[in-house]
Amino acid sequence: MKNAIANGVKLAYRDLGQRHPQTLLVIHGFPFDHRMWQAQLAGLSNDVRVIAPDLRGAGASEVPPGPYSMDQYADDLVALLDHLDVAQAVIAGLSMGGYIAFALWRRHPERVRALALLDTRAEPDSAQGREARNKAIASVQQGSAAAYADEMAPKLLTPDNLADPRIHDRVREMMAAQPTGGIVAALGAMRDRPDSRPTLPTITVPTLVIVGAQDTLTPPADAEALAAGIPNARVEIIPQAGHLSPLENPRRVNPLLRGFTLSS
Ligand code: MLT
Repeated sequence: MKNAIANGVKLAYRDLGQRHPQTLLVIHGFPFDHRMWQAQLAGLSNDVRVIAPDLRGAGASEVPPGPYSMDQYADDLVALLDHLDVAQAVIAGLSMGGYIAFALWRRHPERVRALALLDTRAEPDSAQGREARNKAIASVQQGSAAAYADEMAPKLLTPDNLADPRIHDRVREMMAAQPTGGIVAALGAMRDRPDSRPTLPTITVPTLVIVGAQDTLTPPADAEALAAGIPNARVEIIPQAGHLSPLENPRRVNPLLRGFTLSS
């Protein structure tokens, strides 16, 4: 892991395949860190540069006090690109990473070569969703990241992957390792995130929408609707994958991300 100071906050990141001209910046979801992109770091860095940060409050990055916001996360990533002297990258975000990718497009479109939106949505939280975030904040504050990880895992993975210790244990460990301060701040940032639907028609770069066939949190029908709102988007549905498609089925996702990055 390397470290950079972004907006006064220490961010940990991996940066592989630096010799390649095309760069893919991968933004992890919640409550994860850059390790959810392990298979992309290993499988794509022979062909493209892959930059995989831990967001503020996640993984090995610093946990500054909240509140956080999608805009703040996006500005941190642009500060990291500045630090690495990367003018433009293909921006790939999974779930919360997708919410951040929308913010990055709104605030810094000149840094976005193309967008890959994985298992994500443009809608803000509903009133019920915001209420659930507040309950989750209270329960993480009273309990632990590990208890939260046990609650989340069945919602994220397909039943087969949930039963596969090589997948389940990795995902659970990664979630349980997240700092509670960062979890709470991320929940608040997601609760308060803006509606990204008005952003969709403004997206002029090529866009690849990827979704696990068995994603129950952001299902394929939502991915189709998301892509339909973006002028130059296509959808790829990944079999044997739930909400964590690049981790659950990298054999299908990696060629898509490789081809998309190389051709953008
Ligand atoms: C994620 O995977 O980042 C979360 O499911 C996003 C969310 O809770 O809205």
